[in-house]
Amino acid sequence: MSLFSTVVATTPFEGQKPGTSGLRKKVKVFMEKNYTENFVQCILDALGDKLKGSTLIVGGDGRYFSKQAINIIIRIAAANGVHKLIIGQRGILSTPAVSSLIRTHKVLGGIVLTASHNPGGIRNDFGIKFNIENGGPAPDSFTDTVYELTKKITEYKFTPDLDCEFHQTGTQIFQVDGRNFVVEVIDSSDDYVALMKEIFDFPKLRELIRGNEKRPPFQVLIDSMNGVTGVYVTRIFVEELGASPDTNVRRIIPLDNFGEIHPDPNLTYAKDLVDKVKGDPTYDLGAAFDGDGDRNMIIGKNAFFVTPSDSLAVIANNLDCIPYFKKKGVYGFARSMPTAAAVDRVAAKLNKEMFEVPTGWKYFGNLMDAERLSLCGEESFGTGSDHIREKDGIWAVLAWLSIISHKNMSVEDILTEHWKTYGRNYFTRYDYEECDSNDANDMMSHLEQIIAQPDIVGKTYSAGGKTYKVKVADNFSYVDPIDKSVTKNQGIRILFDDGSRIIYRLSGTGSSGATIRAYFDSYEKDNVTSEAQVMLKPLIAVGLEISQLKQFTGRDEPTVIT
Ligand code: G6P
Ligand code: ZN
Repeated sequence: MSLFSTVVATTPFEGQKPGTSGLRKKVKVFMEKNYTENFVQCILDALGDKLKGSTLIVGGDGRYFSKQAINIIIRIAAANGVHKLIIGQRGILSTPAVSSLIRTHKVLGGIVLTASHNPGGIRNDFGIKFNIENGGPAPDSFTDTVYELTKKITEYKFTPDLDCEFHQTGTQIFQVDGRNFVVEVIDSSDDYVALMKEIFDFPKLRELIRGNEKRPPFQVLIDSMNGVTGVYVTRIFVEELGASPDTNVRRIIPLDNFGEIHPDPNLTYAKDLVDKVKGDPTYDLGAAFDGDGDRNMIIGKNAFFVTPSDSLAVIANNLDCIPYFKKKGVYGFARSMPTAAAVDRVAAKLNKEMFEVPTGWKYFGNLMDAERLSLCGEESFGTGSDHIREKDGIWAVLAWLSIISHKNMSVEDILTEHWKTYGRNYFTRYDYEECDSNDANDMMSHLEQIIAQPDIVGKTYSAGGKTYKVKVADNFSYVDPIDKSVTKNQGIRILFDDGSRIIYRLSGTGSSGATIRAYFDSYEKDNVTSEAQVMLKPLIAVGLEISQLKQFTGRDEPTVIT
């Protein structure tokens, strides 16, 4: 059947500015007439001449409104001369899977339908993000262009009669404006599973999970939090590695509202998993992922918590346990600025290049493409490597299992050994969610004034019997070593002369109000096995005093502590 596209008149919407990771709003906002259409058209327009005849990957975490959004994307893409869409079955693709598909199919990019770790369902969040040719999140230059276009859009192109199912795998070819338009629906996990099998030694991991004559099965509890990773966990952990579907995995059916939970793997929102592992001493490791599968949390026996910053450092220290790195070699390491500096010590010892970038996975991409970066991570529960250009939750767990199988040690013993070698960066993050935006901005302006004081360097602050002397106070800015682009205002840093750091920034991933994040990082050479919250108490008190957070926001306590 021959189909024809039409041009639909529209008017701009305010606030279609992509944040740290794409555009995130309440579902009802995306449902407004033309809201989603406008944004999709602007993404395609931002691709310029490369768009016509291109192929794009489409998929996401399956949250509410995904199917409607995919139907819109299909109709707009066809009308704009895109040649082919590769869509995950039922619209399901984890963010790491999209990144991998872009790379294996060598296509122009991918549209990811997710609001990551934000709650889903009709009353919650939806999101659209674009990943570029290298598989990574679009850089600021691209998202800025998209935003500029959203402010001026007057029309979008649409193919109203194009009905395309994406429930079954297979290829469909349509005639649109006299051209072939192809939709290939693919299995959501085949490509990703194949990639993981190249990176890791699956027979060895299977032996760990199943046990052998010498050691009992290593008991894992893998929690998909009703997000997209359920599909991949079933394939990899249950089918490939022999984990029990009854006792080793949980919440593995992706739900469009994530079962009304907040699909964010941290001690607050994954408390359920933490309690289960704590309550059952047979479990050796627990892991959870966020809605779209790029974040991870690792806990050991009795719910021993591994901070993401430590997780990164331990993996960096043990890359020789992973076949991929043995084959490929190891370039440098990187972390986002607020992430504790534990990995820096590993880099120094192994004589690797070390990069500190702004918050956001997109800042790692150029370094990876230039073969200067192999492994990176963020305190926000992101860990990954240059196998793709997104952080990768399942990859992180497989990395940990590889290390455990190689060293034959418990999670806690691996950490203790690591701290004894390198010292420990005690780290915590305080989040104050849904603050009034004006209050939050006022607090940040106040901090700007503090760091601008001429006598700030050398100033001392005391609390709990400890005194900290300011060494550097600034607003972090970053020059990309590869393309020399400059990113400014990435967070207020107050660095003290004992190596302790306090950082303040506003979250770029919320959908309403403002979330203030305060990060506390302090290094101890010898005292490495104390409680983080106890050790950091004085530094936290100093941080709250400097920022006057309570006075500005009226908040006594953070919403989330990680
Ligand atoms: C997303 C990005 C991460 C980033 C995080 C920061 O998850 O993929 O790379 O670290 O957002 O979120 P925030 O809310 O702190 O801006
Ligand atoms: Zn995510």
